[in-house]
Amino acid sequence: MNKEVKYSCPSNIALVKYWGKKESGTQLPANPSISWTLNDLRATTRMVVSPVVNGESPTVKFYLANIEKPSFLPKIETFLKRVTPELGWISEHHFEIYSENNFPHGAGIASSAAGFGALASCLVALDGQWEESDPVFWEKASKFARLGSGSACRSVYNEPGLWGEFEEVLESTDDFAIPYSGSIHPNLQGWKDAVLIIEDGEKSVSSTAGHALLKEHAYAEARYKQAHKSLSALLSSFKTGDVQQFIEIVESEALQLHAMMMSSIPYYVLMKPNTLEAIEKIWKHRNETLIPMCFTLDAGANVHLLYDGSYHEQIQNFINTELLPYCQNGLYLCSDTGGKPTKL
Ligand code: PMV
Repeated sequence: MNKEVKYSCPSNIALVKYWGKKESGTQLPANPSISWTLNDLRATTRMVVSPVVNGESPTVKFYLANIEKPSFLPKIETFLKRVTPELGWISEHHFEIYSENNFPHGAGIASSAAGFGALASCLVALDGQWEESDPVFWEKASKFARLGSGSACRSVYNEPGLWGEFEEVLESTDDFAIPYSGSIHPNLQGWKDAVLIIEDGEKSVSSTAGHALLKEHAYAEARYKQAHKSLSALLSSFKTGDVQQFIEIVESEALQLHAMMMSSIPYYVLMKPNTLEAIEKIWKHRNETLIPMCFTLDAGANVHLLYDGSYHEQIQNFINTELLPYCQNGLYLCSDTGGKPTKL
């Protein structure tokens, strides 16, 4: 009998970055990281499974925005293979997967976190062992999402997703992300993200290749140590509401991520001139207005402008008057932070 389920899942943006994997295991992080989900930047995925009969080989079909995309199959098949030891029924079913993003395709936004978060939620729901109200449902969704794309494991919680063993949070683990359950000062609640699309299209170096370059990287160990320090300071800023401290960590983490790329062999640069122009403008505007805001970067040229949501109108104005010239086709996308997968 066919079964189907549909989930939407938000993307996420890291405040402390995951960059580098452990040598052993599958997609285990070399350092802990933490992120906010982006409630308004989502992937929606419908998964249809039907049992294999008469010795057929199981098949997988993947559609993005209703167009069949065989080029996505290697990643999805690897993902399903990695989850099969836990969900044995996978190998006895055909899969049809229909996915779409609510943001423009090829906008240079990492869609893999939202995509694998949605796929993983569908698998856990189809499996049926756990109810959504059981925290294990989300631990499993997070773990399976991790097996698709490491950072995707942080996309399944409303609260900041904390992934990777971290000495100050006993429950933290490399296996899956956990929802950060400590207190968060009102100063750091209700922030929003405006993603400035500096350049759309595929990035020139995949994150899989980027992570791999950390193995022989002269600064890798120092960076991993620094990530622990950043996370400790970030959680302290959550508690105290020290926005200065928060901003300093988030911006430093973004620059460290790119510094690692620029100092690996082979080295590469994903920032573009307009990335730096936008950052300069953000610094200048912050100095002039004292609005709580900062930038962060993913593995690409786009700039995430994080800001206290109570300044939404001022920030919209700022973007429209000063930052749009640096955005490709004048495109930027706004999102609330927080949000988790929802069943549709
Ligand atoms: O999930 P991956 O393997 O695509 O790694 C991406 C990691 C960064 O997005 C660059 C940083 C992070 O922590 O999300």
